[in-house]
Parts: sequence; structure tokens; C-alpha cells
Amino acid sequence: MNNLKEIENFEIDCFLQAIHLRFGYDFSDYAKASLKRRIQYRLQQDGLNHISELIPRVLHDEAFFKRFLNDMSITVTEMFRTPLMFKSLRENIVDKLKTYPRINIWHVGCATGEEVYSMAILLHEEGLLEKTRIYATDYNRHSLELAQKGIFALQRMKNYNQAYQLAGGSSSFTDYYSAKYDGAKMKSFLKKRITFAHHNLISDQGFAQMHLIMCRNVLIYFNQQLQNRVLTMLGQSLLQRGFLIIGDKESLEFSPLLDEFDAIDAKLKMFQKRLVFNAG
Ligand SMILES: C[S@@+](CC[C@H](N)C(=O)[O-])C[C@H]1O[C@@H](n2cnc3c(N)ncnc32)[C@H](O)[C@@H]1O
Repeated sequence: MNNLKEIENFEIDCFLQAIHLRFGYDFSDYAKASLKRRIQYRLQQDGLNHISELIPRVLHDEAFFKRFLNDMSITVTEMFRTPLMFKSLRENIVDKLKTYPRINIWHVGCATGEEVYSMAILLHEEGLLEKTRIYATDYNRHSLELAQKGIFALQRMKNYNQAYQLAGGSSSFTDYYSAKYDGAKMKSFLKKRITFAHHNLISDQGFAQMHLIMCRNVLIYFNQQLQNRVLTMLGQSLLQRGFLIIGDKESLEFSPLLDEFDAIDAKLKMFQKRLVFNAG
């Protein structure tokens, strides 16, 4: 008689295969603990007892899959999240970006866009926004729609203002949005240089010629194998001497990138790709 854990793992594998077969999303390399939490949550929401009961649902009900995809994509984010990272970016990276005639920045897993608008504000204040193209991608289409709208809860603006100041903001934060009812709509000049696009880190290729990639608080949901695959793809998307910033709880420690990048700020997880000289 197999133990319950083996049966549960078998059910999870079948469920993930059903998703892969039906929708092409491969969650098999997501971190197991958080995957199990999301599955348990969906069981509870749908009043089901066994994981295997999710299989016919996902095969025959597209709306169910959309709900599960939403469960899987934790879109918690905020403006100027980890303000000291943005401050360090101003102090240690901006001057290097200023040397380029054009700048490409990629926000991977941008969720509802708060991080991207924070970047646009910083670039505007540093006189770089006009020569920058920002790509902001996520696999959650609903989040991308919200990001594109750029309307955030007005009640959060007080905290965001504090984070903006800590991040070295040089203006008044209220200059960047107009308040209407309970929403704060980001000014349209910030949006002009941003392209929001659907991109699945598991199945899609990287972009080329990036000067800076922000991939914060996304890798934590992946197992080491998938983290390594994604990090390799991000490394290849960067130009030589390009910058990579990951979340403060994430690491390059066990990845192939460890020997290819120098730390600009090891604690804030800000790295720069090393220059490689081709022999011959
Ligand atoms: C916690 S949010 C991070 C938001 C922002 N980067 C930050 O640090 O505030 C994680 C985002 O990663 C996205 N994500 C997770 N797996 C993904 C995948 N395979 N491809 C693209 N985006 C993914 C989720 O949809 C979610 O919006």
C-alpha cells in the first residue's frame, strides 16, 4: 500500500501534465511547497476533496484554468519596493547607463506594474526616460491589463511617497499621478516609453541587447533547476557589462551566472555582467 504522500505527488503530477497538455503551461519546476499551497487553496475554493478532481476541470473548463493561473501568479508588488535598491541604482548604475545613446530595460514578472512606473519616475528624474525603451512582461494577462492602465489605490500613495523619498526621489511624488475618486492614475508621459507584453518565462525566449534586467521576486517560485534555466536566459539577454537585479531573497549562489557576474551590491542583489574577451 502506497503512503498518502506518494498518492498526493502522483495526483499533482497528473494535474500538472493535464495543464501542460491542454494549455502548454509547464508548472513542473515550480517550487513544490508553494505549488501545493496554491493547489490546496483551489481545492478549498471549489469545495473539492482530492487533487485528482481538479483534472477533469482543467481539461474541460477554460475558466477554471484561468482561476488556477491567477492562484499561481502571486502578483503582490508595490512602488519603490526595497527603496534602498532604487537608491543604489541611482547612485551606482545610472551614471553607467548615461554613457549609452539608447537604453533597453526589461522588467520580468512586472505584475500590476508598480515597479515599472517606479523605474520610469527614476529615469525621468535622471534625464534618461526619453532615450529608454522599457519592456514589462508577465504571464498573467489580467495583471498586464491593470499595469497598462496604471491606476493604483489612492490610499497606498502615502506609503509609496515614503518609499519614493527613501529611494532618493528628487521631486514631489504627487507630480507623477492625478487623483480621481479612490484611484491614482500615473501620468501618461511615464507610460510612453513602456511596452507591456505577455511573456512566459518557462516557454518563451529571452530578449536581446538589454542594458538592465529587473527580475525581482519571481525566481522564488521556481525550483533551482528552473531558476538556473531562467537566469541563463536572462544572462544571454544582457549586453556585456549589462545589469541584473533580482529580489533581495533570491540568489545567484547556485546558478551558472555566479562566475559570470560581479556584485554591485551583494545584499541588494544587484549584479553586472563581466566583460568577456574572445580569444583570437
Ligand atoms: C511577486 S510578483 C513580482 C512583481 C515585481 N517584480 C516586484 O518585485 O514587486 C511575481 C510575478 O511573477 C509572475 N510570474 C510567475 N511565473 C511566471 C512565468 N512563468 N512567466 C512570467 N511571469 C511569471 C507572476 O505572474 C507575478 O506577476
